[in-house]
Amino acid sequence: MQFNFSSFKKNSVSVLDKIHKLADKKGVSAYLVGGIVRDLLLKRPNLDLDIVLEGDAVRFAHELLKDLPQDKKTAPQLITYNQFGTATLDFSKFSIDFATARKESYPYPGALPIVEQGTIQDDLFRRDFTVNAMAIAIHKDQFGQLVDYYGGLDDLKNKKIRILHDKSFLDDPTRILRAVRFEQRLNFRIEQKTLALLKSALSQGYVETVKSARYFAEFIKILNEPFVRKYIQRLSELKGLNFLGRNFSLNVKLVSLLEQNRKVLPKNNYCFDDQQWLVYLMSFVDWRYWEGLEDKLKQFNLNKSNRKAVLESQNASQFIKKLQRINLAKNKIYRILKPLSYSVIVYMRLTTQSKLVRRRIDGFITKYSLITLSIDGNDLKRLGIAEDQKMGCILDILLNRKINGQIKTRSEELKEARRLQRKSMNELMAERNS
Ligand code: CTP
Repeated sequence: MQFNFSSFKKNSVSVLDKIHKLADKKGVSAYLVGGIVRDLLLKRPNLDLDIVLEGDAVRFAHELLKDLPQDKKTAPQLITYNQFGTATLDFSKFSIDFATARKESYPYPGALPIVEQGTIQDDLFRRDFTVNAMAIAIHKDQFGQLVDYYGGLDDLKNKKIRILHDKSFLDDPTRILRAVRFEQRLNFRIEQKTLALLKSALSQGYVETVKSARYFAEFIKILNEPFVRKYIQRLSELKGLNFLGRNFSLNVKLVSLLEQNRKVLPKNNYCFDDQQWLVYLMSFVDWRYWEGLEDKLKQFNLNKSNRKAVLESQNASQFIKKLQRINLAKNKIYRILKPLSYSVIVYMRLTTQSKLVRRRIDGFITKYSLITLSIDGNDLKRLGIAEDQKMGCILDILLNRKINGQIKTRSEELKEARRLQRKSMNELMAERNS
């Protein structure tokens, strides 16, 4: 099979051409490999190019950089990882990864592999599935030719996810999640023997041989796919969610609700994409059954603010109940939502059945959360209010009033501050909480 890269964007074609010329000049074989080959054959978009060279990839990337435009606007950034023998050229709209062809062996299950230089055939053999183990030559007379040692093209045609050898899941248990990810994303099926080995890998506890953080990083990729529910259901059916802990219960209903509501989420008002995996994580597990949740989240390498968000989400139903009260003033809505993590607010917006709550959250996101006072502590000092506690309380009351639309301008804020100045601390606190 011969490719002409006509589906590639103009700038990737011109870089590919430069790679081709440099490979020929240096007499090294260069190949496009992995996901990009799969997606080219499936005519699916994929912007990132992976190149494998039967030669020194870092040096190659350095030399290529010299052949590329040098002006500040279009020149790519070169990032090298000498210890891995890899390099990335980052063009901002797309990137190209360079690696030296390698042969891998795993000293024990779940270990990081021992790597030595190899041929393209070795390099393809170390990969996860046949459909991801094809290459396209981009050197000399073989330019554009498909390299398929392991039957990837047939599996692609027959919509099969197949490992390359029986120890694949043992070598790298994260492939359990990858198998489900590609199966569901591409609408393929995991091939029979692969499925049997995957199930046996799960039942024999291979997952425990990998660092939780590494396994979870692969799980995040699933949670970032466009329609997560079917992936989760498939994993649950395979008993592939046990790594999350012993006492969790899957809440598919909530995931379905999230998926439906997501379609009608006002895109201009919410940023969901960055938060997607976290919001899904909140949705499909009934976290209340979890013991030691925070420790588990630490093992998964969630940072402090994401851990805080997941813990907060456990109480989402209480916040939603508060937001359902009739005659709730805008400033009360503000005070309920303001302390919460953004991802928890999005989670509530996407999983509540109440139109009223959705409307109130929209109001908070688009209006109240953006309101600020025109005056600050310095203005209050000039009025003679020196005490920190009093100052904080007055600013809170002023903000409440502004959110409720009772004051609008700077002079109205100052006038109201002067009125509040005369009140005692107890009176102020009562007014703030009223
Ligand atoms: N790969 C592998 N085993 C893994 C991870 C990656 O064999 N555990 C190989 C596969 O050949 C894969 C390539 O490395 O195609 C790139 O990995 P990745 O970027 O994770 O996957 P893609 O196939 O590019 O998928 P995506 O489209 O989701 O980026």
